[in-house]
Amino acid sequence: MNDLSKFNITLQNNIISGLFIGQNLVTLNEVDSTNNFLKNMLSNSKPVPEGTVIMAESQYAGRGQQQNGWHSEAGKNLTFSLLLKPLFLPVSQQFDLNRIVSIGVATALETLTGLVIKIKWPNDIYYNDKKLGGILIENVVQTGQLKNAVIGIGLNINQQQFPPTLPHAVSLKQILHQDYDLKKILSEICKHIEAWYLRLKAGHFDDIRRQYVDKLYWFNQEKQFKAGQSVFNGKIIDVRESGLLLLSTENGPAEYNLKEIEFLNK
Ligand code: BTN
Repeated sequence: MNDLSKFNITLQNNIISGLFIGQNLVTLNEVDSTNNFLKNMLSNSKPVPEGTVIMAESQYAGRGQQQNGWHSEAGKNLTFSLLLKPLFLPVSQQFDLNRIVSIGVATALETLTGLVIKIKWPNDIYYNDKKLGGILIENVVQTGQLKNAVIGIGLNINQQQFPPTLPHAVSLKQILHQDYDLKKILSEICKHIEAWYLRLKAGHFDDIRRQYVDKLYWFNQEKQFKAGQSVFNGKIIDVRESGLLLLSTENGPAEYNLKEIEFLNK
């Protein structure tokens, strides 16, 4: 049993305006990781409604991509996970979830701030050459179908300083010198992700893939990359349906997955 009583939980549904994402909102003071918490809820017998959002003021074991941790000062930033049940989406197209979530987060932040926000492949949220946030999607595939997707989102909002180990991190406050209401940003993000998720459900793949590529950091620019021991110049020219990054290099086109390639920022 998932004993929710040991957490300080607030259930609120009056601040999120969309149809279903965020209508079931659980706010926690402290948790290891909101992704872990949501996955624990899913392993209980009680069904968890699609669109459920778990938000935490503080995570003591926040997780990032590629086994990294996720650092976030308590109470200053957005750290939350949301549940989608994309049963309609073939497993071979699961990267479209990364696309719509990244686009949703980026467009919500653009609407709220007026900044131009980019997506660093596969799904980092960037402003200029700095990382504003990241996304960790954990899919549960059962009998060949995408049963549950736990979508963890961490965004740097009101934090004023980052440890030297995170030289590329930046917050909205550092860029725009003002504090933001975390719930207001959460609400805007839920609304935008929901709109893009409904487009995905309606099969608007071309629109989604075009929008994703339009927002890609370093798209069509000659830049330096590293794959294995080799450092080379290349241009991002596309992202495959599967999510592989396609570069044009002096040796012709080349495809990479996340573990194979590094962007070299100067
Ligand atoms: C990354 O850029 O490496 C992805 C970071 C994802 C962090 C978020 S914070 C909320 C959710 N809970 C976690 O433990 N991780 C994600």
